Amino acid sequence: MTPVALERVLLVGFMGSGKTSVGRLLAERLGWRFVDFDDVVESEAGARIAEIFRAAGESGFRALEAEVAERLLSGRHVVLGSGGGWAAAAAGRLDEVPSGTATFWLRVSAEEAVRRAVGQPGQRPLLDRPDPLEAARRLIEERAPRYGEARWTVDTDGSSVEDVTAGILAILAREYPDSLPD
Ligand code: S3P
Repeated sequence: MTPVALERVLLVGFMGSGKTSVGRLLAERLGWRFVDFDDVVESEAGARIAEIFRAAGESGFRALEAEVAERLLSGRHVVLGSGGGWAAAAAGRLDEVPSGTATFWLRVSAEEAVRRAVGQPGQRPLLDRPDPLEAARRLIEERAPRYGEARWTVDTDGSSVEDVTAGILAILAREYPDSLPD
């Protein structure tokens, strides 16, 4: 049987799990492009995430995100950073991604996620609450089973972007030995 060639990598996980920073470095190492779902949603809507939530509600945002995701998931030689809620939303089924997609859950604790997210106000309306830690705990607990549909889980608490990226590259080298650039 011919092994499936690696076409793209999809990173899922909660806000602050490092999808963007790890995704960028991973793409650089692979010589591929990095594309972040949120960036494409913002540029197509012509508005920041927080504004989309205000104007169209979370459901309006999810509809745009689902459309963008479907398109990006047909790209080749690309590392995709999903938004933190995509994999848990109705449209974000990880068991339906196209073949050739290596899926990783970057796992983060609520405490670490909130620490990392503090530097980016406005982009994370769901944590823009009086008690963001409580909100993060609740969302992570709710979403964990869906994130867990990713093929591999990589813990990120206490790990650098370089370490997490190296861990992913090691898995890719083992699983897709013929598909990686030299
Ligand atoms: C969201 C995560 C954000 C962004 C939006 C909703 C979520 O993406 O899509 O604020 O529901 O967890 P990041 O995980 O890239 O911050």
